[in-house]
Amino acid sequence: MANYEPKIVGFLCNWCTYAGADLAGTSRMQYPPNMRPIRVMCSGAVDSVYILRALLEGADGVFMGGCHPGDCHYVSGNYKARRRMVLFNSVMKSLGLDEDRVWLRWISAAEGRKFADTITEMTEHLQKKGPSPFKEKWEV
Ligand code: FES
Repeated sequence: MANYEPKIVGFLCNWCTYAGADLAGTSRMQYPPNMRPIRVMCSGAVDSVYILRALLEGADGVFMGGCHPGDCHYVSGNYKARRRMVLFNSVMKSLGLDEDRVWLRWISAAEGRKFADTITEMTEHLQKKGPSPFKEKWEV
């Protein structure tokens, strides 16, 4: 879709992905400015309600970034996030909504390039999909 700029809400783990985003910025890597980052202490702290709320409030996509498996500063927060995401995706699917509007990725503090590439990829993916029907579908 031409000239369509998707809005992405990003929940970034303080210890890994947020630092990776910082590295991308300080290294002057180019990536689309479509994501609004929210720093959280751990991907395991992101409740499914936060994701739903972002989608209901008009986000076209939600990005969650956490530490690689085995590297979570709170031991198992990212495993909880991964389990939660599987459940969340199956609920989205059963409601007839696209689960591929919500991405969970592991990006460490040293992976600025991976962060920039992932946000670029997600933005392009959402541009192809077009605006989220989620808000309209659930407006009462
Ligand atoms: Fe980064 Fe838990 S501290 S995912």
